[in-house]
Amino acid sequence: MEGSGAAAFRTSAQAYDRHVGRYTDELAAALAEVAGVEPGQRALDVGCGPGALTRALAAIVGAENVAAVDPSPPYADACRARVPNADVRVGAAEALPFDDQAFDVVLSQLVLNFMTDAPAGVGEMRRVARTGATVGACVWDYAGGMTLLRRFWDAALRVDPANASSHDEGQVMRFCTPPELEALWVDTGLSHVASGELQTSARYADFDTLWEPLATGVAPSGAYAVALGARKRAALREQLHALLGAPTGPFTLEARAWYVLGRA
Ligand SMILES: C[S@@+](CC[C@H](N)C(=O)[O-])C[C@H]1O[C@@H](n2cnc3c(N)ncnc32)[C@H](O)[C@@H]1O
Repeated sequence: MEGSGAAAFRTSAQAYDRHVGRYTDELAAALAEVAGVEPGQRALDVGCGPGALTRALAAIVGAENVAAVDPSPPYADACRARVPNADVRVGAAEALPFDDQAFDVVLSQLVLNFMTDAPAGVGEMRRVARTGATVGACVWDYAGGMTLLRRFWDAALRVDPANASSHDEGQVMRFCTPPELEALWVDTGLSHVASGELQTSARYADFDTLWEPLATGVAPSGAYAVALGARKRAALREQLHALLGAPTGPFTLEARAWYVLGRA
């Protein structure tokens, strides 16, 4: 079971690493910190992708105390290779292949909006968390502070105004503000619900480095870029370059995510 965006994560893990994956190690460390992950806990990473959060959790609690799950076989393989002693399984959030109350902390990074049924997925996260355990997630601030994706969709809206708004993640993602995240957590029956922001950044050698992974079709942005005809894709590239300030050498982009935490 997976959401419509999930197919865009069947590409190679390397393409993901060169795209959004540039930000995910720093984001994972920040999420683990606000969630209060500490040695002695047993942790689960839901929608692990190539394993940024799995690795951050393993660094704190030890890989043998970490489980991870993702519906994309190549991403699960990449995660397994990165964190060999973690229990990495192929599966979806909506039907987690773990026992009730098995974990002290259950986290999910950048996944909620790709679930087919996010309330069911968060319900499963709650089920596998022991009573009192932390259940948390983070999502990009697609509408504002995630500079790479915001500028990408702003450029798309200019070159493809008729179609881009139905793909713009700032418009189509259902859970991308703190009130939406908090409501999802409260509706799932989690207590002590709180939200906040996580700030990350990525350094690019040049604009080509940023553009190149998009051509692999990775993530909704890459899938959209690939589906455009060659002429519009070239216009999109030019527009994105301009919106990023027409960098001619190395540059850094900031990225904000929102997190939500609660207790099972
Ligand atoms: C943006 S990536 C995030 C990956 C990873 N958590 C990270 O921070 O790099 C979204 C991930 O959600 C996964 N995914 C899609 N549908 C899912 C579902 N129903 N349950 C769990 N994960 C799902 C995708 O396969 C992909 O790995």
